[in-house]
Amino acid sequence: MNRFPDKTVIITGSSSGIGAATARRFAAEGANVVLNSRNAKDCESVAADLDPARTLIVAGDVSKPEFAREIVNKTVERFGALDVLVNNAGVAAGGMLAKASDDDIDRVIDINVKGVLYMCRAAIPELAKTEGCIVNTSSVSGLGGDWSLPIYNASKGAVTNLTRALALQLGRKKIRVNAVNPSLTRTDMTDGIADNAALFEAFKIRMPLPPPAEPDDIAGPILFLASDDARMVNGVNLPVDGGIGASNGQPNFLAYS
Ligand SMILES: NC(=O)c1ccc[n+]([C@@H]2O[C@H](COP(=O)([O-])OP(=O)(O)OC[C@H]3O[C@@H](n4cnc5c(N)ncnc54)[C@H](O)[C@@H]3O)[C@@H](O)[C@H]2O)c1
Repeated sequence: MNRFPDKTVIITGSSSGIGAATARRFAAEGANVVLNSRNAKDCESVAADLDPARTLIVAGDVSKPEFAREIVNKTVERFGALDVLVNNAGVAAGGMLAKASDDDIDRVIDINVKGVLYMCRAAIPELAKTEGCIVNTSSVSGLGGDWSLPIYNASKGAVTNLTRALALQLGRKKIRVNAVNPSLTRTDMTDGIADNAALFEAFKIRMPLPPPAEPDDIAGPILFLASDDARMVNGVNLPVDGGIGASNGQPNFLAYS
């Protein structure tokens, strides 16, 4: 497939995991790709596999409003337009809220929530020119609660609802706004879970399709939402969760039969 010839895509947090897989797939389908993480060096291994003429690294912290303006400006300077913004950069913090540090709360909310707001705000004028779209990497943690991720749940819940609100606000400008909501995916962020046999076993019991997802399993739905195939899809939070959300919360009797 070649759904994005000469389209320009910013993918925040694309030095690893879901963002890196998404960048590779956009590039393979003809897009100009803007890579981002806090350090340029972290993006170099992803960039090394891509066409330098269609690749730009803009390093910086998405939680800073001035950086959001910088990455959008540099993208338009280099490629002439912006067609797709993938808000993928994110961090997690686990544990009991009563024991959370101020820094945990600030870091997760600043990056996961304010970062998405700043990036959308900076990108909207350019996306209006191209009738482009936004795809947010939210999470199943933005659709319901987890047992031990309250700050992360608060942050991804905000992304889920921002997706709906911006879809309403921007539809008449023909800017579509959607999100993917992955469950457990094998990336740097989930290293600890995949290594924790008991926790991983609990996921295996709850998820109908065998976990974990791989980054490419999330990149595919991101590209679908960004493509013309999804021309009338707007305001959707698409679970990419192996069916975990199909449960009504009962224990998995099949696992014990
Ligand atoms: N892995 C999972 O199970 C899972 C599940 C649901 C949602 N997600 C979401 O997917 C997204 C990607 O995470 P991942 O799992 O690929 O993990 P990852 O750690 O591999 O990727 C996170 C990326 O965000 C970048 N980043 C972090 N803070 C940043 C900042 N302030 N500015 C710019 N870049 C920053 C990192 O450099 C990295 O490129 C995140 O938003 C995460 O919340 C992951």
